[in-house]
Amino acid sequence: MNFDGPVHTWRDIPGWFQWRRHQEEAAAHFPDGSRFVEVGCYLGRSICSLGEVLRTAGRDIRIVGVDTARGSGPEGPGNTDAHGPAVDHGGGTFAGLLHRNIIDCGLTEAIQLVISDSVAAADFFADGSLAWVHIDARHDYDSVVADIKAWAPKVMPGGWLSGDDYQADWWPGVVSAVSDTLPAAGSWESMQWRWIKPG
Ligand SMILES: C[S@@+](CC[C@H](N)C(=O)[O-])C[C@H]1O[C@@H](n2cnc3c(N)ncnc32)[C@H](O)[C@@H]1O
Repeated sequence: MNFDGPVHTWRDIPGWFQWRRHQEEAAAHFPDGSRFVEVGCYLGRSICSLGEVLRTAGRDIRIVGVDTARGSGPEGPGNTDAHGPAVDHGGGTFAGLLHRNIIDCGLTEAIQLVISDSVAAADFFADGSLAWVHIDARHDYDSVVADIKAWAPKVMPGGWLSGDDYQADWWPGVVSAVSDTLPAAGSWESMQWRWIKPG
């Protein structure tokens, strides 16, 4: 894969992102001054789309991206190390590529990065301070449970906690983790799940 090609928009960035409509729903739903967190950014395809959605909508909503920049390692039905080539390309981290892509999309003011493990990063945020947290990090059961337990308290009443790959055949750990830890969560169109915090 050519990681060094020119990037002008999120469409030029490799990734698996398919929740643009959900981003548009969030942009229309939450007021200016809200804060969104994306956990699991890879090279920035989804978070740069979110930045573009908010910019196009004229919204003043800050975005924080959280990623170890070291990949998820082998996982999924084929036990594939999908992020490995990007990690190797950067000598053990793709943080530089992720940051460069955000810069090249013109989104440095809108998006702040925290290069960190998900659970450790959650400690930086006050309880009830986040409007929307979207989880797309490691997809095994224990990791998704840990992510949900770390981030659910950070979501404000009426806010959203959601995640990608809610698909039992490919990602049974995601579906089991969500149903065990957030029984009130539901499917959110095209392989996403969402929990709306009561209150
Ligand atoms: C599926 S990719 C994210 C794809 C991205 N949302 C997109 O659509 O372009 C998963 C990402 O989660 C990150 N990750 C895995 N475990 C993590 C953890 N414990 N904390 C933070 N990030 C993690 C990996 O480094 C990888 O970049």
